[in-house]
Amino acid sequence: MTAPQSAPSPTLAQSLHFWARNASNESALLRTSLSVGLFDALPVEGEGAPVSVRQLAEKVGASVRGVRSLVELLVCLGLVRMDDARGLALACPVAAFLRDAAFRERLQEAARWWGPIGHLEEAVKTGEAVNHEGQRWDVLDHYGRLFLETTPAPSPEAEDFFDRFARSAARTWLLVAVGRLGLLEQLSTGPKDEAVLRAATGASERGLRRVLEVLAHLGITRTEGLTSTFTDEARQVLDGKALPYLLRSFSVSAQYWEALDRLEETVRHERYILDLKDPEVSRRFYADNSNQITAVFASHYQLSRRAAATIAQVRPLTGASVLDIGTGSGVWGVAFARTEPTAHVTYFDQEVVLAQARRNVEQLKALGQARFWPGNLFTQDFGEAAYDFIILPQVLNVLRPESLPDMFRRVARALKPDGILVIAEYVLNERRDGPLDHLYFGLRRFLTNEGDLLSHSEYGRLLADVGLTASVCLPLPTQELLLAARPGVTLPTQLAPPARTAA
Ligand SMILES: C[S@@+](CC[C@H](N)C(=O)[O-])C[C@H]1O[C@@H](n2cnc3c(N)ncnc32)[C@H](O)[C@@H]1O
Repeated sequence: MTAPQSAPSPTLAQSLHFWARNASNESALLRTSLSVGLFDALPVEGEGAPVSVRQLAEKVGASVRGVRSLVELLVCLGLVRMDDARGLALACPVAAFLRDAAFRERLQEAARWWGPIGHLEEAVKTGEAVNHEGQRWDVLDHYGRLFLETTPAPSPEAEDFFDRFARSAARTWLLVAVGRLGLLEQLSTGPKDEAVLRAATGASERGLRRVLEVLAHLGITRTEGLTSTFTDEARQVLDGKALPYLLRSFSVSAQYWEALDRLEETVRHERYILDLKDPEVSRRFYADNSNQITAVFASHYQLSRRAAATIAQVRPLTGASVLDIGTGSGVWGVAFARTEPTAHVTYFDQEVVLAQARRNVEQLKALGQARFWPGNLFTQDFGEAAYDFIILPQVLNVLRPESLPDMFRRVARALKPDGILVIAEYVLNERRDGPLDHLYFGLRRFLTNEGDLLSHSEYGRLLADVGLTASVCLPLPTQELLLAARPGVTLPTQLAPPARTAA
């Protein structure tokens, strides 16, 4: 494990980004690894023979995929070591602090608070303890102990572990709660007195004071007397559209709260608490999510424009027929339409999501080149030799691994003989132990009964099975662009430079 003190302190912008996206995943990862018994079942490095994921899953009585989803992250974080034969062992410093009975008790006590923390908003309003599963929990007091008091840990590594285990998710939920209460919006318009903040948010005196204390501890606010304000750094980071964007990211994270709380059930029994394979749950979840996807339209549009330009380097898009499967906001297909005015783009998604795509396509004046096709991507026949380009943008991770061969079979059939399959996806490194953000994204896909993330060579094997034997994987800034085709089709080998302005 890297010594935590040696890492440079993240900026507030980096921290907020992490708290919005991955901090609750991190706490759930460590809490579940402990409760499932992974740390105890692993041999300590240098002491016993390393074990495989399968052996580990058998030992703790949990699903292989569930254990793998946790272990790959633990390897990435340096808590577990993996040798070249994928043998696993617990890192020595971790073994040392987990042998400390008092520290372990502290972890177990902190783990009990996940559910109660979900009632923070109510606690802030009432200033009282909340009811959770028949017991009273003083969540405000808990936040005080977590953030405002110091309890010595057995080592810096142990302190870092505790922080990730207990405080990471608590930070996320604090920001979810203050976002819902409208507190951050109030502060974004300038310094405010306590009475004004209480009237605007409905917070109790005790509740408001506690959250302001913790927000100050996190470097977000400052309080002098009765007046609170954003710190200078927070004001810069949360300027303009940044605050609503951040609040939406926190509200997306909040959708996973209960599923993360109950991750142990999913890892043990593959029982899905937020089951996106349930059509009604998926409809609601993605209808909600498409707002968020549209919110990130501008940044994804830069990626999709660059992908279209990359392909246009080796193959003209003139008159091309393009199919965008799982289009969401339409951001990938519309980039092809805007790159080449004679291209025709079919946008495929669930009906409820297509309305959003249509609005975006209309806004970019590409409606004349568009067809909207509602359907179910798990079963849809996409036709035969019909498309020059088929885009699978951030959609393979929706499919469970066993569905991929059939999906690729239908897609390969629908591609013209010289067609190119365009996959935008989080592609793992060949050891499957990074990048970290991709692995956290993969954990969420596992807990929602969706897909698995793969490495380039794992994709390559599945694609070769359907005749797409040529493939390249080009790294875009936040995800990878994987292009595949039949033998003899020219594929670009490097990315086009980023567009100077988004058209
Ligand atoms: C992660 S989003 C990707 C959105 C978009 N391609 C992008 O890159 O921003 C996955 C998309 O797959 C769609 N999807 C999920 N299950 C589906 C199904 N059974 N049939 C059709 N579309 C589905 C969702 O509605 C969602 O728009």
